Amino acid sequence: TPEKEPLKPGDILVYAQGGGEPQPIRLEELKPNDPFVLAYPMDPRTRVVKSGEAKNTVLVARFDPEELSPETAQHAVEGVVAYSAVCTHLGCIVSQWVADKKAALCPCHGGEYDLKDGAKVLAGPPPRPVPQLPLRVEDGVLVAAGEFLGPVGVQASASACCRHV
Ligand code: FES
Repeated sequence: TPEKEPLKPGDILVYAQGGGEPQPIRLEELKPNDPFVLAYPMDPRTRVVKSGEAKNTVLVARFDPEELSPETAQHAVEGVVAYSAVCTHLGCIVSQWVADKKAALCPCHGGEYDLKDGAKVLAGPPPRPVPQLPLRVEDGVLVAAGEFLGPVGVQASASACCRHV
């Protein structure tokens, strides 16, 4: 179904919460150091929100641009960064904000990701960062400027090759 299509470059990011009409995320609505918001991609032509696939869940946060690591800043726009919200440990949705660290927390086993620095793992069991999503702004709203910069979710390893996740 179209709701399960993977995220594509050019998709508009819309707020994950709130029923009714999809609400594109406007750059001006995000304030530096506010908690991140969860988002889904929306096909810009059909206006279908691709919320039927958990792997499309994106988290979006804004920082002061100079707080971002240089590599992270390359794919940010005006201090706004986006990452996959699918924890690389066992695939829960990373849904909580840790204000003092400006980090994202996975509630399942306490995985923490540094959103200012490539989602580096700060704590907990995740084996690797969640991949960043490059952004651009079109008509004031956030748009995916490319694919995720790495694999989304749990990666099979040799020891876990045959487990379904
Ligand atoms: Fe996220 Fe385990 S699934 S820390």
